[in-house]
Amino acid sequence: MDDKKIIFSGVQPSGNITLGNYLGAIKNWVNFQEDYNCIYAMMDMHAITVRQNPAELRKRTLDLLKIYIACGIDPEKSLLFVQSHVPAHAQLSWALNCYTYMGELSRMTQFKDKSARHADNINAGLFTYPVLMAADILLYQADLVPVGKDQMQHIEITRDIAERFNSIYCKEGNPVFKVPEGFLPKSGAKVMSLQEPTKKMSKSDENPKAFISMLDDINVIANKIKSAVTDSEGVIEFRPDDETKAGINNLLTIMAAVTGSTEEKIAQEFAGKGYGDFKKAVAEAVVEEIKPIRKRYDELSESKDYLEEICKNGAERANKIASRTVNKVYKKLGFVL
Ligand code: TYM
Repeated sequence: MDDKKIIFSGVQPSGNITLGNYLGAIKNWVNFQEDYNCIYAMMDMHAITVRQNPAELRKRTLDLLKIYIACGIDPEKSLLFVQSHVPAHAQLSWALNCYTYMGELSRMTQFKDKSARHADNINAGLFTYPVLMAADILLYQADLVPVGKDQMQHIEITRDIAERFNSIYCKEGNPVFKVPEGFLPKSGAKVMSLQEPTKKMSKSDENPKAFISMLDDINVIANKIKSAVTDSEGVIEFRPDDETKAGINNLLTIMAAVTGSTEEKIAQEFAGKGYGDFKKAVAEAVVEEIKPIRKRYDELSESKDYLEEICKNGAERANKIASRTVNKVYKKLGFVL
């Protein structure tokens, strides 16, 4: 192994992959590939915390791999795998469950949101979901976890669990777990709904006009941006603390994340212009970004064997790394090896 730092992250194949997933997470993963050892997984075990159609879940998991690659994740540089192909995730998750408190899990906002939305299926997996996420990260001794803002609370609990375990079992230094840091992008850490801009853009939103799917038709993408909810003030200014500007703030953020500029600079460029012109420019920038991704995605749809090979190799490599951590943990716990 070289001495590069380790990155771990993943997306759940639980719905349409959105522009929020791309700008908040995947786009940033691409840039880390030169300087870090990057590990990116398809988190299918997390997806079953809400009911999934099995055939669709299977298809979406491979579609997600295609999206990763189409967005610029290079399987020669990064380790890509399907979470359920690596039993260590379930093994470590169980052990860590015994080092995580009901009280801290009850405070997770995602649990509160999801249990409100799926009131007929508040299962134990939904509750212990952050423990599985902690296992994902800690298995690979990750230094950095690039995610969107909504996952930061889960990174915090991961750090708490790691520190707790280390402090119980590693009194003479040599910790079992690396304590990871979260990483948020400058712009795009929280892309908002296009229809209710005070709400996060979500792949499970019932209103398809609220989110942009990376697999939407190019014309559909442009139209969704053009019909984004804004305000009646008619002023293009970035005021992140002003809820009445949530729609414009969001479009500025999307533009900043796509172009690598800042919200303030873009607002200056468009000062005095109408919302119609501004939306048109945002739509063009997003379409420019997504078009080549779609092209590569469609090309990959012809390469089933190639994708299966990536999953197989990825699982082998990930199993090797992850089982090393599980062995260390089992030894500390007192399991007979
Ligand atoms: P998931 O699948 O909901 O989202 C994947 C990534 O996209 C980010 N994201 C957003 N970023 C900006 N704006 C938005 N509107 C937006 N919506 C989603 C998320 O923050 C995330 O980075 N639990 C995770 C998956 C996971 C994971 C892990 C991530 C499981 N194990 C270990 C990192 C490390 C999740 O449900 O993400």
